[in-house]
Amino acid sequence: MPVTTRQLRQWKQQGRTIVTLTAWDYALAAILDQAGVDIILVGDSLAMVALGYETTLPVTLTEMLHHAKAVRRGVKQALLVCDLPFLTYQESPQQAIHSAGRLLKEAGVQAVKLEGGYPTIAETVLRLTQAGIPVMGHVGLTPQSVHQLGYQQQGQTDAAGQQILAEAIALEQAGAFAIVLEHIPATLAAQITQKLTIPTIGIGAGPHCNGQVLVTADMLGLSQRQPPFAKSYMNLRDQITQAVQQYSTEVRSHQFP
Ligand code: KIV
Repeated sequence: MPVTTRQLRQWKQQGRTIVTLTAWDYALAAILDQAGVDIILVGDSLAMVALGYETTLPVTLTEMLHHAKAVRRGVKQALLVCDLPFLTYQESPQQAIHSAGRLLKEAGVQAVKLEGGYPTIAETVLRLTQAGIPVMGHVGLTPQSVHQLGYQQQGQTDAAGQQILAEAIALEQAGAFAIVLEHIPATLAAQITQKLTIPTIGIGAGPHCNGQVLVTADMLGLSQRQPPFAKSYMNLRDQITQAVQQYSTEVRSHQFP
């Protein structure tokens, strides 16, 4: 049975941990889906890992639509969520509904994710959910604000931690079905996870979240640079390099074909 947003809340109650990974094309999405990943996120990190941009800021809604459509064709079971890229939702709830609506209608994603919290983003989340569009929140380190926050851990002081907690509560009250907690202290993530009834999905936020997410390029060892909290389960970059070098040698020495 395909994963639903409602199921995620039940899984939190049952203590079943939610596995999330990102995807940017059909082939990768099909592998993740068939491997049993619960949520597949077309993250705007694809700007960096698939399109070679320096940050996530330049990626457009048109580019996200293109990638989301390819991912959609590979996903049969997982819940498919797509990031709203920078400046496609911050201007107004109307802009957010228009952008999110295109991702649902044209690419067939089941939910959108957006960054930030109280108060304007929470208002936007309310309007999106009232329009029938499921929303995943994202607080703590929000990469679309890199020029304001950098990439350092957020919520290090009591006041900053309480602000992130307040944002998470506001997003839940606005109707978000889950919240990504990125690069915050594990104790703060545990506190937020305990306060909320919706699941928290952590990345660099310790082991006490209801689920974990990694950028798949980091997880596979494909990225040129990756955050300190990411874990690589293989070194695909080296494996591809070795395969390409072996192929080159065989072609140049007429061993292949
Ligand atoms: O864009 C992305 O891949 C993300 C994850 C890091 C959660 O937002």
